[in-house]
Amino acid sequence: VLRTRVCDVLGITHPILQAGMASYTSPALVAAVSNVGGLGVHGTVGRDAAAVRTVVRATRELTGGRPFGVNHVVQWLDRDAFEVCLDERVPVFSFSFGAPEDFARRARDAGARIICQVTRVDQVEACLASGADILIAQGTEAGGHSGFVPLATLLPAVVAASGDVPVLAAGGLVDGAGLADALARGAAGAWIGTRFLATPEAWASPSWKQAIVAAQPGDTVHTLAFDVLWGRLWRGAKLRVIRNAFTEAWDGRESALHERVDEVEQLVWQAERADDPRLIALMAGAGAGAIRETRPAADLVVEIAADAERILAHAAAHGAA
Ligand SMILES: Cc1cc2nc3c(=O)[nH]c(=O)nc-3n(C[C@H](O)[C@H](O)[C@H](O)COP(=O)(O)O)c2cc1C
Repeated sequence: VLRTRVCDVLGITHPILQAGMASYTSPALVAAVSNVGGLGVHGTVGRDAAAVRTVVRATRELTGGRPFGVNHVVQWLDRDAFEVCLDERVPVFSFSFGAPEDFARRARDAGARIICQVTRVDQVEACLASGADILIAQGTEAGGHSGFVPLATLLPAVVAASGDVPVLAAGGLVDGAGLADALARGAAGAWIGTRFLATPEAWASPSWKQAIVAAQPGDTVHTLAFDVLWGRLWRGAKLRVIRNAFTEAWDGRESALHERVDEVEQLVWQAERADDPRLIALMAGAGAGAIRETRPAADLVVEIAADAERILAHAAAHGAA
């Protein structure tokens, strides 16, 4: 078995974490990953405190005593949802898009482990000062909101700056080769989103999952258009989605979109209700082009771990590692 320091810090078997993804993480998804020895993490964006409590309790029912996590986006942190997580004694708190400072301290005092995501190396210091147990280096390849630095450039710099604190790699990782590559570059595991959206358990819509499976390499775009539509700009990030009619019309034409936002919002809202993939935000990482089918989340964890182990053993046996 591939064990890294992340396994010891979190009390898990495989250094594979299913990334927090807004309201698209179901209890079944998070529990499936945690129950086979990875770590599943819920998102809170798009959920109110009551919804967070519901998914946390349902996940605990399904996982028994196994650890799982909840993500908070610092820029949009919902204090009530955060209090719910403390109250429910969530074992792992993940923070992203900002240094969590006092929130991390409170979670730590409640006995939780702290994971902080960075998108630039100059964010490492504040995360370490907040008491992070684990860092995530999220490359621009990542689905949903992501920064601008490619993972291959960011990861070694974050590893070098993080001292003894283990670092997870995120962005475009979908298989054992991706995990093996990240480990070879100094990561202690992988934080994987898009691959776990294309599972029966995830709460992404059918046409969205289908778009991930159909995507070819190069089919994603990093755009501000949806954030302009939603009226919520994320600091230091854009949204990575699969190209569709919406991005063809509005990516790079955000000021024109701003002028017509009410009208376009109506159309996108109708498309969401009809699950029409031409206009909805098909959030996905650059690795979507390598995903060929939806698969149960537990199978993915086991397969990614086994493949990475085999690849690294093969490389070592042939003098490549
Ligand atoms: C649909 C979707 C929603 C996401 N929502 C969040 C979120 O709420 N908070 C967050 O920190 N990151 C979010 N992310 C980013 C993931 O945490 C993670 O960094 C990313 O999925 C890793 O890249 P990958 O998708 O290529 O595996 C989201 C990603 C996706 C695909």
